[in-house]
Amino acid sequence: MKTKAATALDFYPDTSTLKHMIEFVLLSRKGRTDGNFRNLREAGRLDVVHECLLLGFFTSGAIRRDVVFHVILGGPPRPPVHLTFDGRSLTDVRTDERTWEDIFRKVLSGGSHPGVELRRESFQELVKELARKERDMFILEEKGENISDIEFGNNPVFVLGDHVGLPRKDEKFALRYGTKISLGRKPYLAATCVDIINYLLDLRATRK
Ligand SMILES: C[S@@+](CC[C@H](N)C(=O)[O-])C[C@H]1O[C@@H](n2cnc3c(N)ncnc32)[C@H](O)[C@@H]1O
Repeated sequence: MKTKAATALDFYPDTSTLKHMIEFVLLSRKGRTDGNFRNLREAGRLDVVHECLLLGFFTSGAIRRDVVFHVILGGPPRPPVHLTFDGRSLTDVRTDERTWEDIFRKVLSGGSHPGVELRRESFQELVKELARKERDMFILEEKGENISDIEFGNNPVFVLGDHVGLPRKDEKFALRYGTKISLGRKPYLAATCVDIINYLLDLRATRK
């Protein structure tokens, strides 16, 4: 029997039946806010953002259409920048770092990419906006409530820091609107946390 070769189109299934959305908010304290950089690592550790996006969006051979990933960049030259990556409309993406380096450079230089939006907005403004939309917000931190005791609700938002962690003042601000939750006492990479959350949500019968 002949097997069909995977094409780029296999990544883009119909999204009209999705009921629930899952949002991530990643604060990248030093992430560069223009396209003037040599590589993602030197751009205020945008390589960490790339890792989180990979585990946020990709399963083996498909994109998670029910994920919206917000990244707040706080690095030079003109912070803050809020990038939204929307799984419902994200196209022309692969897992390799070079692809994402090109997307970051293009969007941060004033260009566009399907499914990616840039706004001049701070972490606290974004958190307030999500709270206004009555999302269930969960702030990831080692000393939070055990995740196995948490009921996520239908449209959860997960807030996390980059390799340095969330600044105290931003964590305190987010906690006005959400609950601090823990994956255990071991400090994980931010991308590992995103992967664990996606995995736990995959176990729910309601997630497609
Ligand atoms: C690499 S960690 C940052 C570690 C940093 N040393 C700190 O103290 O925040 C990146 C982010 O992942 C999340 N994180 C890491 N381990 C976690 C855990 N065991 N439970 C919940 N969140 C965790 C937190 O949001 C953290 O800001």
